[in-house]
Amino acid sequence: MSGKKRILVTSALPYANGPIHLGHLAGAYLPADIFVRYHRLKKNDIVFICGSDEHGVPIMLRARKEGVSPQEIVDRFHEMNKQSFFNFGIKFDYYGRTSSTVHHETSQNFFRTLSKKDVFVLKTDKQLYDEEAKIFLADRFVRGTCPNSDCGFEDAYGDQCEKCGSSLSPADLINPRSAITNSQPVLKESTHWYLPLNKFQPVLEEWINKHPEWKANVLGQVRSWFDQGLKDRAVTRDLPWGVDVPKDVAQKAGVDADGKVLYVWFDAPIGYISATKEWAAASGKPDIWRDYWQKDDTRLVHFIGKDNIVFHCIIFPAMLYAHGDYVLPENVPANEFLNLEGDKLSTSRNYAVWLDDYLTKFEQDSLRYCLASNFPETKDSDFSWKDFQARHNNELADILGNYINRTLTFCVKYFAGLVPTPGNYDSEDNALINKLKEAPDKIGNLIDSFMLRQAVKEIMDIARYANKYFNDKKPWQTIKNNKSECATTIYLSLETVKSLSILFDPVIPLTGEKIRKILNMDQIESPDWNQAGTLSLVSGHQLNSPEIIFKKIDDKEIEKELDKLNNPEKEETIVDDNNLISIDEFKKLDLRVAEICAVEQVKNADRLLKIIVNTGTEKRQIIAGVAKHYSEEDLIGKKIVIVKNLTPVKIKGEISRGMLLAAKSDDDLCLLTIDGQIENGAKIS
Ligand code: 2FM
Ligand code: ZN
Repeated sequence: MSGKKRILVTSALPYANGPIHLGHLAGAYLPADIFVRYHRLKKNDIVFICGSDEHGVPIMLRARKEGVSPQEIVDRFHEMNKQSFFNFGIKFDYYGRTSSTVHHETSQNFFRTLSKKDVFVLKTDKQLYDEEAKIFLADRFVRGTCPNSDCGFEDAYGDQCEKCGSSLSPADLINPRSAITNSQPVLKESTHWYLPLNKFQPVLEEWINKHPEWKANVLGQVRSWFDQGLKDRAVTRDLPWGVDVPKDVAQKAGVDADGKVLYVWFDAPIGYISATKEWAAASGKPDIWRDYWQKDDTRLVHFIGKDNIVFHCIIFPAMLYAHGDYVLPENVPANEFLNLEGDKLSTSRNYAVWLDDYLTKFEQDSLRYCLASNFPETKDSDFSWKDFQARHNNELADILGNYINRTLTFCVKYFAGLVPTPGNYDSEDNALINKLKEAPDKIGNLIDSFMLRQAVKEIMDIARYANKYFNDKKPWQTIKNNKSECATTIYLSLETVKSLSILFDPVIPLTGEKIRKILNMDQIESPDWNQAGTLSLVSGHQLNSPEIIFKKIDDKEIEKELDKLNNPEKEETIVDDNNLISIDEFKKLDLRVAEICAVEQVKNADRLLKIIVNTGTEKRQIIAGVAKHYSEEDLIGKKIVIVKNLTPVKIKGEISRGMLLAAKSDDDLCLLTIDGQIENGAKIS
């Protein structure tokens, strides 16, 4: 492993404001888990870190929408996502969170050090400000038209246009509007700390040039940032949620720190460091985190999706370099995006396959295998349910499962479930032995150089080859006329089953374990990777009874999933954002108690009554379609609920100012009335 002593692997910290879907898994989590599991089997020193990214504007927006605190949102999704990863077999050594005290201290100390080293530039600028909500409109708090003339998307975010992918700052937007109140923002001065990336460009370029082995998609993006020339990046924000700018630093700079926090992309990657510290403390060696972050013989590898490349290949390395105490990443094997049935995944449209939902219906390993066979390693790739079914049925079940089953069943039937003693090897036997011998290094090298798709294909090719070997050797004939040859065939087939259980273990770990249980091996949970290349089964060793490992997935199950994707509204969902309104939106309704003091039929309209209500400050007329359900006598004196701030309208020539609230079914209608005595005009909330 490139002569280095230890490996630290990180997966992008997912925002704790929504559940995990397939796009996440294919980008930053499953590739990392496969890489880490391989190194664990190699018995290398490796630590796998992840956690929740709990700051930033999207979390605040969701909290506002639900009318709860940001803390409530992140508590909910932190636990949910941690559990989902676990259920999918993503085996982190530690899953931290950026709202932890250790994280707040670590990121504040990091900021303090950079400030002491005079790394930052302070700038006072005019920023967009929402006068109604009394808040600066950072990042996604502002929306407007994309300034990119080829694009012109009218709903671009303050930090990025989702249509053309341009990275933006709020001031770039044309016709900006507040995402909170929809009002037009004003400009207001504010002072912020900037990371002068242009100063770091030469050293960053030198460092990147030393890594020609990085993936082409990553180098391409990084070089295009360099070509445009790196610009200063603000690393603080005026927001009420985040890691506070340290008071001492602000005081020294003569800036009021009140309401200022670190930019989420400043604190989030430091989350990798804080989580490693927490892992070290939890494992009883509180200082050991330093070995992984501060010793040159560490391989630091960040697994991410392509939208995070600039942060992990430019901004965070610049921060680490400027700080001086840390190693820089050895590689950032970012994946491109995974599409779904040919379309972009979309959380807001609920166009996604949600991990928790998947796991209620299918096995974890089927998805792990299908995704890994099709990782978007060099370009975007597509997940389709038909492909998922085909991978499961035709490859896992028909090739791997069938091979294991026919070998084990044969051994049980003709050798009493005991590993037979092989005879002499012929050329076909030797070819299989050689294939197994070279597999651990060949496949290990592919995994170690992040070519996971190819690795998965090579492993399944061994199963294909082994099926052919079994067919060619015809043990059902040799059992009758050449028992020694038959014993050799079954012995080598069992060895191949064992090898496959190890080689496949990083990708489909539950299956690996199942196979080793059937083989009754000593090391069921963590075998040695190199054992996949050696003949190690002992003659006479008792095997357990075989079982069917993969049951076929039938068409109906797949059709259901496709139907659900095409009709998302049919599904009860936990991300149905479109039906939610924020507490602020609700508060816009001015609901009041009013007393009915006069009622009259509207001319030429059987259904309509002209109702005069006392709102406490005035008498006003409301036209309501309640004539079929209420008479004048029923209504006079009733205290009801009205919407007071409705725009006046003319109905059948009569002005209506407001609306009565009523419950309706097909035939019935009941006015909402007040239970008890309260003055007219009392506010309802
Ligand atoms: O894109 C995202 O989901 C970010 N929350 C990733 C953060 S990665 C790291 F810097 F923490
Ligand atoms: Zn755009």
